[in-house]
Amino acid sequence: MSRLEYSQIGDFRRGHAVKHYLSSLFSYRGVRRSSTVWAGRPSGLGHFDIALYILIGRELERQSGHGSDKRGYWILDLGTYFGHSAFAVAYGASTVSKDPALNVLSIDLFEQPKYLLASAPEVVQFVKEYGSTEPDAIGRWLDSICGRIGLKRNPIRLMKQDVFELPAQDLAAIAPEGYRLIAVDCAKTPEVMNRVSEFLTDPLVCRTGTKILFQDLFDWHAPWNAYALWRLLKAGALSLRGAGPQVTPLAEKVAQRQTGTICDNIQPSRISGETWSTPFTTLENEVAALEGLAGMFREWGYTEFFLRLDCLKVGALLRAGRLEQAETLITKLDQTWPAGVRDSYLQNAYCRMMHLKTGRKDLSLVFDTSGHRARNSFLARTLRGISGRLQYFKPIAVSTQDHPTEPPVQIKTTEKETKAQAG
Ligand SMILES: C[S@@+](CC[C@H](N)C(=O)[O-])C[C@H]1O[C@@H](n2cnc3c(N)ncnc32)[C@H](O)[C@@H]1O
Repeated sequence: MSRLEYSQIGDFRRGHAVKHYLSSLFSYRGVRRSSTVWAGRPSGLGHFDIALYILIGRELERQSGHGSDKRGYWILDLGTYFGHSAFAVAYGASTVSKDPALNVLSIDLFEQPKYLLASAPEVVQFVKEYGSTEPDAIGRWLDSICGRIGLKRNPIRLMKQDVFELPAQDLAAIAPEGYRLIAVDCAKTPEVMNRVSEFLTDPLVCRTGTKILFQDLFDWHAPWNAYALWRLLKAGALSLRGAGPQVTPLAEKVAQRQTGTICDNIQPSRISGETWSTPFTTLENEVAALEGLAGMFREWGYTEFFLRLDCLKVGALLRAGRLEQAETLITKLDQTWPAGVRDSYLQNAYCRMMHLKTGRKDLSLVFDTSGHRARNSFLARTLRGISGRLQYFKPIAVSTQDHPTEPPVQIKTTEKETKAQAG
């Protein structure tokens, strides 16, 4: 892989804003408190996502000013589910003001799949108490918890809408000054990813300075998210900030650029009903993107992230029908996989490869090697558990005022590359 060229951007000052540093350092407390209010309702978020959203909510609310200078602002939450991301941002804003300037537009189909409605205990319980997964039910739940954290109003507006069919103009009409944060958690198909990318390159929806979080960045089921991020970085539209080795990195719009269609070669899926097996661009493009991002994480020392991307590379090979190469890569990864990182991503890649190879889906299969057994010894698991908990106390950077872990990086692209990408 050719070495990446990065250029550091922005005013990046270390050693000041102690206040911000302390709040980001103690994000654990906010996560614990807000989780008590959320009380085990269905959620697509992990500890670090919640922490990041709380910090962003706090930061945006601080920036909105005080008293008569206070200016209302919008954030866009694509993929409400039961509203946890939106609530985490509201929780962060509530730590600054009980009458926040925050408005959240949260969009979803509000129709959860049958298997969740039938067997996910938290979903079953929610429907029992609130009647459905429709916006009115979720709205009542959000009203009640916004009241419990002392907010004077529920700032979350729910919209039942297929994002794929949503024109960017409709989003722009709701928030004439654009959105300050766009949380992307609904791009479950390459077609929807293309639509979301249109929002991100539309200056009326996503302006310079807007923060963007691709929540599915490492998701085996939605590999076009990592690809879209890379394309937007390469086009010079976004920069990326590493907020910590466990925290999904936060992108920021830095310039208005066009990318052309991101998922530019969508083909029928290789396995019927398995969306992840849908080819969406050429293998070369996918691999270049994954290697580009992995190279960035390697430079930052974010081991788990680049290993996850290496596993996504197995997915890319499978989408291209390169079974033998995929198998070879799995073996190579197994031989070099560090004991400090759990190998569930590798095991998942193995199961998916076997699915394509044998035609039988069995996610309980184990790639049972001496390396896997060593990584799953009692000692290795205990040490990983302890180090995982300690990560909760590391600072998380959401802005240049926070104590930074990594400066934002922007990928340098030649003029020729930019023109080629824009098609
Ligand atoms: C992983 S969940 C989101 C989790 C959520 N961000 C949270 O805070 O818990 C993904 C959501 O995306 C929604 N979704 C999937 N495709 C969509 C589409 N085309 N338009 C709108 N919503 C969609 C699903 O209904 C689902 O609720």
